[in-house]
Amino acid sequence: MKALILAGGFGTRLRPLSCTRPKLLFPVAGKPVIDWILQGLSKVGVETAILAVNYMAESFVRYLGPTKFNVGILYSREARPMGTGGPIKMAESLLRDSDMFLVLNGDVLSDLDYRRLIQFHVEKGGLATIALYRVEDPSRYGSVEVDGEGRIMRFVEKPEPGKAPSNLVNAGIYVFNREVLEYIPTGRRVSTEREVFPNLAKDGTLYGYEMKGLWIDIGVPEDYLTANRLLLSKPEVGQIAEGADIDEGAKILPPVHVGRGVEIGEDSVIGPYTSIGEDVYVGKGCRIEGSIIFPGAMIGDHTSIRNAIVGENATIERWVKIESGSLIGDYAEIADGVTITHDVTICPSKRVEESILEIHQVM
Ligand code: GDD
Ligand code: MG
Repeated sequence: MKALILAGGFGTRLRPLSCTRPKLLFPVAGKPVIDWILQGLSKVGVETAILAVNYMAESFVRYLGPTKFNVGILYSREARPMGTGGPIKMAESLLRDSDMFLVLNGDVLSDLDYRRLIQFHVEKGGLATIALYRVEDPSRYGSVEVDGEGRIMRFVEKPEPGKAPSNLVNAGIYVFNREVLEYIPTGRRVSTEREVFPNLAKDGTLYGYEMKGLWIDIGVPEDYLTANRLLLSKPEVGQIAEGADIDEGAKILPPVHVGRGVEIGEDSVIGPYTSIGEDVYVGKGCRIEGSIIFPGAMIGDHTSIRNAIVGENATIERWVKIESGSLIGDYAEIADGVTITHDVTICPSKRVEESILEIHQVM
């Protein structure tokens, strides 16, 4: 079986973290999203993954190489973003020899058993089956109307509030028969959700399989932090790398992930539900909880970070306070004594000298 993974496009709200890596290489519980996905595919015997890449294609090639977790990796490159459908059509020559293949949104973490999805697809006999997940607010997703047989009657991408057909949404995991390629126009940007699914639904050949369990799209800070939390909660995940230099007077509250080359000073308290990337420096008397710290960041003495994300090589000086839902972009600097309140985004390389006390700011 082959799987095509959509690995391009630009994450909007997480973009300040993309200076040095694409979204699929963001760490979750100490491991990039793409690794979680490839591992899941490997477990069900997928032999080949085709990565549809544009933005920062080289970082994937450098990080993954030709094979990972026993899955062979092929790269299909777009010169410019082709949407969620265009890249599938562009990979046609790599997919033509398969009667059936998987397509995955690369920014989704789930523990779906792909075999059950495939089995359902074969039983129903449609051209395409999409995994569905029940959510509270469908407006950020593709919402569907299904009949009693699992046939999708209607697919509405990003429905306006109150206009969603249901709370069942597209989980971004599909099984396609080769014939679906005929539904995708050639040579231009195509949205699978806005163009292909509505046509398949009209032809009565699109099915939906409701999945339960773990499912999360990491596209916004809160969900990215939740994904980190959920995966750290798994018993086999979360660890302290050998050689991490943790002061005897520091306290680690599991579950946490601490990467190689990390230094943590006296009286600092780290965790729970926290991932600290490689070569991060944490000073004395810090408090870091429910957060993701990207590699190379510096956290000065007595700083506190709760439920927030700190980008690669960012510098957070001393006595800083960063509150829930905030995101500090790559290479940003936060000066001594600054408070960053809830849901604030600091752009990459920005230096912040004064506190930001109003929520939902982008600086
Ligand atoms: N190669 C390539 N080229 N990949 C792309 C492009 C592109 O031009 N645009 C987006 N992608 C990739 C993204 O990297 C992501 O992995 C996936 O396609 C989906 O794009 P998002 O931008 O994350 O879409 P979304 O989260 O708003 O909505 C999609 O996912 C939801 C589930 O998480 C839709 O498929 C919704 O219907 C769905 O509910
Ligand atoms: Mg997404």
